[in-house]
Amino acid sequence: METNNFETQYADQLKKYADDLVKVYKSEQQKRKDLENTNLQLIKYGRDLSSSILKLKTANQELSEAYLDTIHRLVIAAEYKDEDTASHIVRIGSYSAMIAKKLGMPDKKAINILYAAPMHDIGKIGIPDNILFKPGKLTDEEFEIMKKHTVIGAKILSNSKSAIIKLGEEIALTHHERWDGKGYPNQLSGKHIPLAGRVVAIADVFDALMSKRPYKEASTLEVTLDIMQKERGKHFDPDILDIFMKNIDEILKIRTGVEKTGPQYSEDASLEISLLRSQ
Ligand SMILES: [Fe+2]
Ligand SMILES: [Fe+2]
Repeated sequence: METNNFETQYADQLKKYADDLVKVYKSEQQKRKDLENTNLQLIKYGRDLSSSILKLKTANQELSEAYLDTIHRLVIAAEYKDEDTASHIVRIGSYSAMIAKKLGMPDKKAINILYAAPMHDIGKIGIPDNILFKPGKLTDEEFEIMKKHTVIGAKILSNSKSAIIKLGEEIALTHHERWDGKGYPNQLSGKHIPLAGRVVAIADVFDALMSKRPYKEASTLEVTLDIMQKERGKHFDPDILDIFMKNIDEILKIRTGVEKTGPQYSEDASLEISLLRSQ
C-alpha cells in the first residue's frame, strides 16, 4: 500500500516535471521564434537603411554637382566679357590644384582649390570696362582702380559657410600679393600670404604670359619660364616655384587637355574629381 502510494507520488512528480519541461520547451520555442522574427525585422531595417543612404548619397552627389556647376557658371558670367576666360579659369583651377597636390595637400583641399581658384578675378565685375579693356598701359590712377578687383572679389565672396567659397575669398584677396611684400592690396610678404594665394599667383602669371591678349602676344614657353624664374623669391614663393618648374610637363599636359576638351574639368586636369563625388 505504502509502495503504491510512493509510486503514485513519484509518477505525479514525474508528470509535473514533464509538464514543466514541455512548458519550458514551448516557451524556448516561442522565444526562438520571436528572436527569428526580430532578426528578420532587423535585416529588413538594414536593407531599408542602406537603400535610404544610397538615395541620400545620390541626392547629395547631384546637389554637389549642381553647386559646383553653379559656381563655375557664375565665374564665367562674371568674366564673360573677357575673351578666352572660360578656358583660362579652368586652367588656373587645374594648375593650382596640381601644384597643391605636389605640395602634399590632402585631396579634399586640392579639390577645393580646383574650384576656388577660378574665382580669383571675380571682383573684375566691379571694374569699369574702359579700364578693364584698355588696350594700352593703365595710368597710375587707373591701375589703383584696377587693383580694387581683389577687395571687391573678396567682398562678393565674404561670409559664406562653404569651404570652397571661403577659399575663393582668400584667393581673390591675396592672388596679387608678392613674396617680397611689394604686391597688393595689403603688401603681405612671405608666408603671411595664405598658401592658396601664393599657389594661384604662380598659376595665374604663367597662364597670363602664355596667353594672347588684345594688348599683347603670347610668350613662348621658354620666355615665360625665364621671366618666372627671375621672379623666384621676388614675386613668387621660391619653394612653390621650384615645384611648379619641376612639374612643368604636367602643367603643359593640363594646358593641352583644356585646349582639346574646351573649358571643362577634364581627366587631363590630373585630379580625381570623383574623389569629391565619393565624399
Ligand atoms: Fe587678378
Ligand atoms: Fe587670371
